[in-house]
Amino acid sequence: MEKIRIIEAKEYVGKEVKIGGWIANKRSSGKIAFLEIRDGSAYFQGVVVKNDVGEEIFETAKNLHQETAVWIYGTIQEDTRSKFGYEIHVKNIEVVGGSIDYPITPKEHGTEFLMDNRHLWLRSSKQHAILQIRNEIIRATYEFFNKEGFIKIDPPILTGNSAENTTELFHTEYFDQDAYLTQSGQLYNEAAAMAFGKVFSFGPTFRAEKSKTRRHLIEFWMIEPEMAFMDQDESLEIQEQYVAYLVQSVIDNCSHALSVLDRDVELLKKYTELPYPRISYDEAVKLLQENDFDIEWGEDFGSPEETFIAKQYDRPVFILNYPKAIKPFYMKPHPEREDVVLCADMIAPEGYGEIIGGSEREDDHDALLESIKAFGLTVEDYQWYLDLRKFGSVPHSGFGLGLERTVTWIAGTEHIRESIPFPRLLNRIYP
Ligand code: 4AD
Ligand code: MG
Repeated sequence: MEKIRIIEAKEYVGKEVKIGGWIANKRSSGKIAFLEIRDGSAYFQGVVVKNDVGEEIFETAKNLHQETAVWIYGTIQEDTRSKFGYEIHVKNIEVVGGSIDYPITPKEHGTEFLMDNRHLWLRSSKQHAILQIRNEIIRATYEFFNKEGFIKIDPPILTGNSAENTTELFHTEYFDQDAYLTQSGQLYNEAAAMAFGKVFSFGPTFRAEKSKTRRHLIEFWMIEPEMAFMDQDESLEIQEQYVAYLVQSVIDNCSHALSVLDRDVELLKKYTELPYPRISYDEAVKLLQENDFDIEWGEDFGSPEETFIAKQYDRPVFILNYPKAIKPFYMKPHPEREDVVLCADMIAPEGYGEIIGGSEREDDHDALLESIKAFGLTVEDYQWYLDLRKFGSVPHSGFGLGLERTVTWIAGTEHIRESIPFPRLLNRIYP
């Protein structure tokens, strides 16, 4: 008898198989029991008929508790009434691991309770669907950048300096030196771009940010491409192609997960249409002021501002050329405007906020040195980074896409905490 996973059921119609799984739910009457079985690949129904299996096995079925681990033996059948389309007619059940008083029952639970039980909550169908979408976005990311000729680079996680800002650094000790958890691999990616031309990194990044919003994690994963001989306009084209590719991949390969989440696929299809609109920071401020937002030129946008701007469009939008003062030290000033930099944030639709931050990098040694000083950073820490401007410096651009913000948006779920298996939040490091 072949051991299969539920997701493979369609290839085994009429055949006897063995499946290792857990009991997600159960209902029974006098002569028949319906088991909802999950095995990590999918959920489906197991039908146990007393007259077919006999008294003993039927009793076992009737007494299964939620999350009991079992071997199920039986025959796969089509089941046109279920979304999944297949079920198993059970012949035998072998209990592998018992489960008494499983805390997450089919009734509603509060968020804090679910977060305390995150290690078990992962088994629920909604969490399963969101993390499948996360997996697809990861897979499609590697596929996209490999196809485009990028090399994957792994920058260090322990670093000696700050990549984005000094206020949100996680400090640690590195023997007798100070060290920080990386905020972004970008500076190292720039070194790698000068070695390989087109590179991307994909790893965990850390922000000691005292933000408690539905968009902020303390530890999140970022995809950071960096391209030599590429200006900001060309970088924007890669960004929109990449994001459209992610959305299309999820539509193509996660239809079941999207239906579990009740995600409107027609809406997602809109997000694959290129180009994405571009609006300057100047224009955005004007638009906001005309609509009674209390904002002055030079101030950063918060979530209400981003949401308002996003609502003007039916797909993600780029906001270009922010004031130099509110962006990091490495961004290259606009050639005709000293007060703004060649950068863009991509804002997702439906109020999901910024999913990409990117820019052209300052490639002139002396201008970069001035900027490092002006931002109050220690020049010695950035000596290696300045070297890149001494030995064959070229125009180059890059960007960072936040994985969890992107998952949250594409999955259409409310809060970023569900987009990563074990979220690190302002007040939570358990489990
Ligand atoms: O805009 P950020 O800070 O940009 C950088 O770190 C650049 N060095 C990237 C680069 O050019 N290589 O962060 C990039 C993205 C944001 O747009 C957002 O999607 C995500 O990372 N992000 C967060 N996601 C979750 N929680 C947080 N606290 C985040 N901070 C940034
Ligand atoms: Mg940003």
